[in-house]
Amino acid sequence: MTTVRKVGVVGLGAMGAGIAQLCVEAGVETVGREVTAELGEAARERIAHFLTRKVEKGRLEQAERDAAVGRLALTTELDAFADCHLVIEAIVEELPAKLELFAELDRLVAPDAVLATNTSALSVTEIAAATEHAERVVGMHFFNPAPLMPLVEIVRAELSSDDAVETAYAFGERLGKHPIRCHDTPGFVVNRVLIPLLNDCVRVLDEARVTPEDLDAGMRHGAGWPMGPCTLVDLVGIDVHVHASEALYEKLREPRMAPPPRLVAMRNAGLLGRKSGRGFYVYD
Ligand SMILES: NC(=O)c1ccc[n+]([C@@H]2O[C@H](COP(=O)([O-])OP(=O)(O)OC[C@H]3O[C@@H](n4cnc5c(N)ncnc54)[C@H](O)[C@@H]3O)[C@@H](O)[C@H]2O)c1
Repeated sequence: MTTVRKVGVVGLGAMGAGIAQLCVEAGVETVGREVTAELGEAARERIAHFLTRKVEKGRLEQAERDAAVGRLALTTELDAFADCHLVIEAIVEELPAKLELFAELDRLVAPDAVLATNTSALSVTEIAAATEHAERVVGMHFFNPAPLMPLVEIVRAELSSDDAVETAYAFGERLGKHPIRCHDTPGFVVNRVLIPLLNDCVRVLDEARVTPEDLDAGMRHGAGWPMGPCTLVDLVGIDVHVHASEALYEKLREPRMAPPPRLVAMRNAGLLGRKSGRGFYVYD
């Protein structure tokens, strides 16, 4: 297993910044790459802000916060990853961009370094095929928001080595996450189950003519869900759910995977849930 003393995070958007925050909080020297220095700085400010809030809430010492922020180096160059033992990719969900990046990273890093992708819907095996050393490539699928959601799916692609999988698993644990191992199949574990299930819930709204409030109450009080399905889809974002649903349907062709027309109409109307102020519910 590779000992991870330095980690690289490529892409410091919603997921990458959260992952970088977890790494620096776990005491790991971290280098983050964005496409421009301004985007990198903005991500560092977001991370610093979240850590300051933890200090204010009494969950982190000021000195620990300062040390954590100090562990994050920023770059726009890939060369900065040459001495990383693990690089986690969290750039845009586009296959050509990921293929180009993995081919470059593979040429740069040490022979025993591990390359991980945070992709939700692309094939890890297909991404690994862009490299000469596919055995070092795995999936590390974090959930949004990464600092708060305990799960990370450790995805074994067709050619991943045991060593790469176990390095990623151990690193997930070091970040304080609950890792689970799975193979590279569409939706991995949680989205494969959750997306069609949430689609069923939305279809039931129309079939059973139940209100979102009653459906949410039904699943909470009758099935023990911690949060009702309409509340959950609003939180995830209707656009994000529709996109994930389309990706799963494209791969598996099961009718339940396809986004319900009601959700597509909401997405098209700009009703995106909590982030737009209105979805199944209205938010202030
Ligand atoms: N948002 C989610 O709920 C979620 C959950 C799990 C996994 N994911 C996956 O994580 C990845 C990132 O998603 P996100 O929601 O953080 O997207 P995002 O758009 O918020 O962030 C992507 C970032 O990558 C940067 N970027 C693009 N190309 C780059 C490159 N070559 N080098 C460095 N930076 C680059 C962009 O500037 C942007 O800041 C995607 O693969 C997505 O499928 C997302």
